[in-house]
This record gives sequence, C-alpha cells and structure tokens, in this order.
Amino acid sequence: MDHFGYRQDQLHAEEVPLATIAERVGTPCYVYSRATLERHYRVFDDAFGDWPHHICFSVKANGNLAVLQVLERLGAGFDIVSMGELDRVLASGGRASDVVFSGVGKSSDEIARALRAGVRILSIESGQELDRVNAAALAANTKAPIAFRINPDVDPKTHPYIATGLRENKFGVSAADALGLYRKADAMAGIEVAGIGCHIGSQLTEVDPFCDALEKVLDLVEALAQNGITLQHLDLGGGVGIRYSDETPPDPKDYVQAMLAILKRRNCDLSVTLEPGRAIAGNAGILLSRVEYLKPGPSKDFVIVDAAMNDLLRPALYQAWHEVVAVDRRRNCEMRECDIVGPVCETGDFIARDRQLAVAPGDLVAVRSVGAYGFVMASNYNARPRPAEVMVDGDQLYVVRQREQTADLFSTETLLP
Ligand code: LLP
Repeated sequence: MDHFGYRQDQLHAEEVPLATIAERVGTPCYVYSRATLERHYRVFDDAFGDWPHHICFSVKANGNLAVLQVLERLGAGFDIVSMGELDRVLASGGRASDVVFSGVGKSSDEIARALRAGVRILSIESGQELDRVNAAALAANTKAPIAFRINPDVDPKTHPYIATGLRENKFGVSAADALGLYRKADAMAGIEVAGIGCHIGSQLTEVDPFCDALEKVLDLVEALAQNGITLQHLDLGGGVGIRYSDETPPDPKDYVQAMLAILKRRNCDLSVTLEPGRAIAGNAGILLSRVEYLKPGPSKDFVIVDAAMNDLLRPALYQAWHEVVAVDRRRNCEMRECDIVGPVCETGDFIARDRQLAVAPGDLVAVRSVGAYGFVMASNYNARPRPAEVMVDGDQLYVVRQREQTADLFSTETLLP
C-alpha cells in the first residue's frame, strides 16, 4: 500500500500532483512519500507487540537524510555498511547507539571509528575480522559488542546477485565454524559477545527460507548455550520483498508473526533486530521523468525519456521490472507497444521493455517502486548530474536534495600544470 494515486486522472504523491513537482523541480526527479515510509515502518514495529525488538532501516536502500530523519523520529535504528552511511545517520539526527554495522570488508579505520562512535553491534563475518576488531578494541581500551553473521546455506529464491545466505556466497560464517569462533571471541579481552545474526538475501517473496534460516540460527543459539555462551540479540537481517508487478511477497506482519511463532516454539526470548530496507522504502518512491521523443523502429518503438540507467540502474543490472505509468491519463494519445529508454549511449540503457504506454513528447511518466536502491545506485555515467530528490508530506513538498550541477561533477578534479 502506498500513497501515490490518481485523482481526476492526474497522478499525485499524497496531496501533491506530480505535474506540480516537475514544474517546480524539473525532471528527472525522485519523489518520496512520507506517509508511505511511516506506514511501512509501523507495520514492522507494530507486528512485534511487546516482544523486545529493534527495526534498523537498511541505509543502503535509501540514504537521503530526510528519509532517515523521518524513520529516526519514529524510533528506527539503522543498519549500515560504511562510515559514509554512519555519517548520514548522524547527520540526520540518528544515534550511533542505534546502529548495527554490517559488511564483509570493514577496514581497520572503519572499525576504529565505529568503536569510537559507539555503534550498538558490529556484525562479524570472518575469523580475520574478529582478530581485527579485537585488536582495535584493545587499542581503544574498550570492548567491541559483536554478533557473528551466520551463513545458514538457505536458498532465498531471489535474483542470484542479491542472494547472500548460500554457502557459495561471500557472506557470513558457516554454522560449522561458528561454535569455534564464538568460543574464541568469548575468550578475547576486546570482545563482548552480544548476539547472532543472518541475512539471506533481498526481495524474498516467500516466508519459508526465512523460517529455515531462523531454525538453523536457533540450533546454534542452543549449542552456544550448552557451551556456556549466552546471547542477548538475534538479528534476522532484511530481505522481505515488495510487489513490483505480480509478486506476492509476505506481508511484513505475517513475516514477523511467523518468526515470533518459531521463537516461542523453541523457547527463545532473545530481543529481535530486523534490517528492512526495500520493504520500508521501495514503494515509497517514484522516479518522475519527461518524454523527450517517440522513435518508431523497424521492430519496436522507443519512448525516449530524460531518465536513464545512471539515474535508475536496477533494470540494466538485474533486468528488474518497474511499472511505468503516464502521469496524466487524460491525454488522448495512441497506446503503443514500446521500450522506455534513456539518453545514455548503451543498449543496456533501458528503464522498461515491451510495455504499453500512451504518451507524447513532453508528457510526464512515473517509474514506480524505486524508493529503495534507486537514487543510492545512481551514478554520473555520461557526465549526467544525479537527479533531485523531493519528499512529499501531505500537501507540502520539500526538495530534500538539490539536483546536481555539472560543475559539481568535476569540482574535485584538477588540470595538469
Ligand atoms: N541487511 C543486510 C546485511 C543486507 O545486506 C541488506 C541488503 C539488507 C539488510 C536490506 O535488505 P532489504 O530489506 O532491502 O532486502 N541493490 C539490490 C539489493 C541489494 C541488497 C543488499 N543487501 C537491488 O536493487 O535489488
């Protein structure tokens, strides 16, 4: 459920017509709906009832300061994978003590900085990383709160690029290695063993893989307890999918309830952390773009718009399907079968393929479900400045990121003497 809808055949973000945004801010432009972000956060939060929990929004999905601010005000924590993301959280008003630091390749500098800032938990993904975190904590005269990320070897049934919990993936430590690593960590002066976690992939549309992963992690929790190692936190990662087209992902509420049912059955009362990104932000954003040309081709027609693969990479990278709709449905244009493509000089530059669309040059289109992994994956390829970002709140619109200017793109470059 999102707050983008038609009124008198004009697409609106909450109360604001998208045509008004295009007029004021230009195109291409990302538009987010505050009400949608809040609604999605609350579904996760409410589903837990009294069960102790932390919803840590995954900053990699959308790091815009205003997006983080909206969620922080609802009580969200954050899942980060870099110091850039930590800086974003802090700049948006978030606290390091609500931050979970994940990632398979943390540098020594990042670990030292995370400890200084006081992040809640560092998720550890290898024996060498454990040694590095211990050394950094000892040097800083502190103890690092850690959780191992377990790779439960479960097939998440998603795109191979975003499956992370299979044994052949680079992520996490195997269940077989975990006990030894926990024992080692428990004996280290710089380490405070605090929890355990897993994240098996993104855009999961079934609940079973999550259940399988949780059961395997709980087997380890029990084995650890038998070895005298008790934990406080269980982090189940992110991954709940959204509906782009006709997928039927689990409702976040049903997903949480399925997890809690397993925990109850296994007499586990650990506090639970979730790291949703896409399920909170995905359907809370659209990409607004203007049609430049209609180009008939010998085998298919092209609608050439002003947004391109540098603005939205998902179609090119994952062959991802995003709905594209005309902003004004009153226009009396011929419906045509077409590819919707951008100005970048690559055949891989497409937003959508084989669609039916009734638009004319100058018309606005909206690419839907791009609030997660949209702007954050934008680049300056072809020296294209990245788009503006707008947050709509009721009848108000706020430019929460100015459109980049071409001078910004080379402001850190220098000519030779
Ligand atoms: N936690 C960890 C440790 C993760 O690696 C991820 C995502 C998340 C949480 C959030 O997952 P979500 O709830 O958003 O599924 N660029 C890709 C998605 C990459 C996801 C990587 N990890 C895409 O556009 O589909």
